[in-house]
Amino acid sequence: MQAKMAEKTARKLAPADLPPLGPPPVSLSDALQQIDNVFGIEALLRDAGAEVTEPYYRQSVLVYEQFYEKYLSVPGCMHFGLNYKGVFNRQGFFSQARGVAAQIRRMGEVSDVLELGCGKGLNTIFLAKKHPEIRFTGLDLLAEHVEKARARSAELENVRFVQGSFEPVPEELAPADLVFGVETLCYAKDLDTVCQAIARSLKPGGRLVIYDCFHEIGKGEVSPEMTQARRLLEVGWGISAGYRTPQRWRRALSRAGLQLRRVQDETPYVLPNVRKLQEFGIRFFDDWKLRMQSRLLPRLGQRNAVTALLMPLLFEGQPDGKQPSAPAVSYYRLVARKPESD
Ligand SMILES: C[S@@+](CC[C@H](N)C(=O)[O-])C[C@H]1O[C@@H](n2cnc3c(N)ncnc32)[C@H](O)[C@@H]1O
Repeated sequence: MQAKMAEKTARKLAPADLPPLGPPPVSLSDALQQIDNVFGIEALLRDAGAEVTEPYYRQSVLVYEQFYEKYLSVPGCMHFGLNYKGVFNRQGFFSQARGVAAQIRRMGEVSDVLELGCGKGLNTIFLAKKHPEIRFTGLDLLAEHVEKARARSAELENVRFVQGSFEPVPEELAPADLVFGVETLCYAKDLDTVCQAIARSLKPGGRLVIYDCFHEIGKGEVSPEMTQARRLLEVGWGISAGYRTPQRWRRALSRAGLQLRRVQDETPYVLPNVRKLQEFGIRFFDDWKLRMQSRLLPRLGQRNAVTALLMPLLFEGQPDGKQPSAPAVSYYRLVARKPESD
């Protein structure tokens, strides 16, 4: 009980109450210069809007497995950790699943949960072990991810993993009491199609939980450099339609008949993880031998170095310098509800 209260309080801490992270080790101008020298910004931005989600993930398999999952996150994890005490800790990679578990507890009677873009199944497997009475389904675009998720969950009877797109959510996966997505719905090409499909797949009174990066326009003036950095992030991760603001999501959810109940800015808690990731990005750009080695990786996989370098700058903004700027990207948790009477 005490531990639960402590966790709740930690979550409510304002960013200013978290331990300071120290000055950013690289300025945005320097980061962009390094990216330009190695990749060519113009060449990267030529791919803006290209539909490369699938090739991006296929070409990044080695980067995720041999680097992210091995040295930074935990096996099977393809998302950022949320560290509510402001200090990097691998337990943070289970924060999103814990947040979904808290939602399940609040809802009371839950029999079916659907995870969209489940990757290799980390969240669903964590939840399925904690809730043997609930049926869990994970859906992912890539057969490679689904195979790994199945292998990791072979002993669990209350889980299935299905290959397919959430655009739209396959009808046979409905109805669910709770649908959630961790860092995946940003890949939606058409918000209305996705929101309407989610609404159809939810039971009346059901909930949608999203943890994701969003285009931030509410934290102050954004410099042209910062806007360019956001576009590079979108290209680097193959987010073809670009990040949307939480406000755009709210409108699309509402058109689909879903009520947005909670919008929580989780950005301060993602910073310890993205700062750590940036250390690797800095090493890549500083060390020509490492860069030569990485030429062996597929082209889209190499671009993870660009996103690693830029992310903290995009989330934190640049308060000083020649081109001061507010952040252009934030990490939010959204919770929406399908009305009972629908
Ligand atoms: C950043 S990873 C996150 C994976 C997982 N949610 C996690 O927390 O580890 C994004 C995932 O979304 C999947 N994805 C992207 N677009 C999708 C779509 N249209 N339908 C289903 N999955 C998709 C990718 O294949 C990838 O596994």
